[in-house]
Amino acid sequence: MSSIRVLRGVYRNKTVKNVAFSLVKGYQTGARGGYITVDSDGYFGPEFGVVRIRVDGIEDFEYVNGDAVKAVKAKAVEAKPVETEEEAMSRIRERFEILTEMTKAATAGDIRAMIVSGPPGVGKSYGVEQEVDKATMFDKLAGKRLRAEVVKGSATPIGLYQTLYKYSDANCVVVFDDCDSILLDDVSLNLLKGALDSGKKRKISWLSESSTLRREGIPDQFDFKGSVIFITNLKFDTMKSQKLRDHLDALQSRCHYLDLTLDTMRDKLLRIKQIAKDGVLFQDYDFEPEAQDEIIDFMHTNQNRLREMSLRMALKIADLRKSFSSKWKLMAETTCMKPV
Ligand SMILES: Nc1ncnc2c1ncn2[C@@H]1O[C@H](COP(=O)(O)OP(=O)(O)OP(=O)(O)O)[C@@H](O)[C@H]1O
Ligand SMILES: [Mg+2]
Repeated sequence: MSSIRVLRGVYRNKTVKNVAFSLVKGYQTGARGGYITVDSDGYFGPEFGVVRIRVDGIEDFEYVNGDAVKAVKAKAVEAKPVETEEEAMSRIRERFEILTEMTKAATAGDIRAMIVSGPPGVGKSYGVEQEVDKATMFDKLAGKRLRAEVVKGSATPIGLYQTLYKYSDANCVVVFDDCDSILLDDVSLNLLKGALDSGKKRKISWLSESSTLRREGIPDQFDFKGSVIFITNLKFDTMKSQKLRDHLDALQSRCHYLDLTLDTMRDKLLRIKQIAKDGVLFQDYDFEPEAQDEIIDFMHTNQNRLREMSLRMALKIADLRKSFSSKWKLMAETTCMKPV
């Protein structure tokens, strides 16, 4: 295997300068420009193996002998203490505890706005909904008007205005779960900016004439005193489009931003193990402990082939394990995995 030294390159927004690697595949160009494929061997963290480093052209790297790579590897091992499984588990648990605490604070009106970001199926909605349910339980039992609502899917600007009006009182919370359309729409975003501004008064106005609002007796301006939680798969920090970033920065600056940081395969798998170990993930299945372990082992073994590594996927496989006791693996292979 030949070795190269990257003189100038970028990997995951990190600059790579004068670092030697074993070369896996030479210079290629793709939709996002040129890159070379190298075995990073833990240089970017223990979970990163073969990676593509973006370079502008062949002048950005040079061929070197293997010793240079060994020296880099030794340095990387020395510099980066490897996070143990226990450490990673407690980091992840902590993030979810923060999610619970922040949601609690939002329902208590202590926090005005929060954005929760993370990959699909890891428990964002679950964590927030659990707290919102707790907060509204008594109102529900008493048949009173609820002071919190979870809005899922898309919302038009006027729909957003109506929802904000409905929950404009000081103790109200609106959760926008997977409503990315409102984060990407100019009119909606401006409404949200007004609703979440840090001044004492947060006035929102609907500027055009609307028969819908008139019909429902909604004024064309009001003060918003409630709290808002956004749940999204969008990663604000690494958004590519500059226009979008500027836009979202304005919102982010008004919100607490919680990235659950479950970005690596290892982290996702650990989260699944964690919830399974806590005894809650598979609690509705009446599985023997071995059955749970079999599912987790199966996911571990096939981590690179599964369409998604998530709690949701674990539950799908559990469904199959329950219904097809002898051929669940075959069924899972057919329905949950990418074809080879
Ligand atoms: N702490 C938990 N204990 C038990 N089950 C959980 C837990 N967290 C999540 N789940 C289950 O995992 C599945 C996925 O969780 P959830 O829907 O909250 O994911 P999500 O992060 O909101 O995903 P998406 O971004 O796709 O909306 C759900 O079926 C949920 O019931
Ligand atoms: Mg969700």
